[in-house]
Amino acid sequence: KILVLDFGSQYNQLITRRIREFGVFSELKSHKLTAAEIKEINPKGIIFSGGPNSVYADDAFKIDPEIWNLGLPILGICYGMQLMAYDLPGGEVLGAEDQEYGVTDIDVTNAESPLFAGTPSNQVVLMSHGDKVTTLPTGFEAVAVSANTPFAAIQNLDKKFFGIQFHPEVRHSEYGNDLLKNFVFNIAGAEANWSMDDFIDQAIADIREKVGDRKVLLGLSGGVDSSVVGVLLQKAIGDQLTSIFVDHGLLRKGEADQVMESLGEGFGLNIIKVDAQDRFLGKLAGVTDPETKRKIIGNEFIEVFNDEAIKLKDVDFLAQGTLYTDVIESGTDTAQTIKSHHNVGGLPEDMHFELIEPMNTLFKDEVRSIGEKLGIPHALVWRQPFPGPGLGIRILGDITEEKLEIVRETDAILREEVAKHGLDKTIWQYFTVLTGLRSVGVMGDGRTYDYTVAIRAVTSIDGMTASFAQVPWDVLEEISIRMVNEVDHINRIVYDITSKPPATIEWE
Ligand code: XMP
Repeated sequence: KILVLDFGSQYNQLITRRIREFGVFSELKSHKLTAAEIKEINPKGIIFSGGPNSVYADDAFKIDPEIWNLGLPILGICYGMQLMAYDLPGGEVLGAEDQEYGVTDIDVTNAESPLFAGTPSNQVVLMSHGDKVTTLPTGFEAVAVSANTPFAAIQNLDKKFFGIQFHPEVRHSEYGNDLLKNFVFNIAGAEANWSMDDFIDQAIADIREKVGDRKVLLGLSGGVDSSVVGVLLQKAIGDQLTSIFVDHGLLRKGEADQVMESLGEGFGLNIIKVDAQDRFLGKLAGVTDPETKRKIIGNEFIEVFNDEAIKLKDVDFLAQGTLYTDVIESGTDTAQTIKSHHNVGGLPEDMHFELIEPMNTLFKDEVRSIGEKLGIPHALVWRQPFPGPGLGIRILGDITEEKLEIVRETDAILREEVAKHGLDKTIWQYFTVLTGLRSVGVMGDGRTYDYTVAIRAVTSIDGMTASFAQVPWDVLEEISIRMVNEVDHINRIVYDITSKPPATIEWE
């Protein structure tokens, strides 16, 4: 096991994740851990993460000085290296005149360094620091230099302490993974004997211990995160879990049935399905403003969920499919808050739940891999992103049952065709939008005056930016013909050829 101590870098969980990819268990813990607590955890080595602070600032994150005497190999990254230089005798850290942010070259000056074993003498790395080490602590030597600093990497071989000023955990650092591997295997002597199966076993054991014979409530959305948590909890505590699935009427065709079938019947989850279509459509009637629609849907969702939760007696825990990315966006005790994130949120104040968030150290693709291992159907595990407000923001203007039918049916055709042509692996998200536009057409012998449906299909990594997908013309043609023939009240299909920015992925 390799322990990573958290000093607040946005990248810190990436370090543990890379190490888990090597087959070695790694977890991120607070920098406040004492030497005694670390002894208890018994890691093979420790990594100090980067962080936004200066080591000499009044409110800088400090560590228990006894940690330096544990005899464990330590790799300090960025802030971690500066802490090493600042805390150990003889070292000095100062604010740099030229701050260094971005990709740069380093030269490895000590080819014997075990940290750089098997990597070239010149390599590209990602630097991101304002301070730098100006004097090395006693017993240390420089092993790599950059144009900006003679101490891009340092080591004390006797103590097995290593410091690197750049970030090996990001892809921009060409040989970053090799350096981490060198530390984990050659220096710390860890063995590759951990897998996601171990994570699942451990998570189940932890849940059992925490919950005992008490009861847990879960909000199922049909998305991959809550589905995986549901199946995991089912395996851990069986009938002590109750799941609530709110069907707000804004789901895609067949979605509610799929959730009930695969999770309810397939995995035996006890799901309370709340048919709240009328409640939602009633509240949304005549509302055209996109933000107001979003708010109404969000608030109503919480109310429906609460109503059901209150009916259940003696529930002690609320389970959530929170991912690490949600945690970091909401701020941890070290990382700055980017945006606050609520998975369920707004539960009544007189309901006191303890939270269970078994996925909160994982990234999306790790959750998917757990989903696969748990035997959750492929379609659910690899489901494309779907917004909480559902089809409600894919109908421009007010929402009616007739319009919902058009979006549901055209979306189903699009999904079928995309899958049939094997495009579902390359297109990140694809759906149809009912534009408010009506136009003239001709069908059979008659003139029509019907709706225009837009097809939206994008490629993206994380949804922050996106490019419109270059779907072949003949596929688009097939889709267009099917939609107009099979779905009533539409006579024109358009393809959205804008990227994000300047457009957004959704139309509202
Ligand atoms: P935009 O339209 O902002 O969408 O480019 C980026 C990604 O976020 C999804 N999205 C939402 N997800 N609640 C959600 O849970 C929302 O209100 C919401 N709005 C957009 C969108 O589907 C895309 O994947």
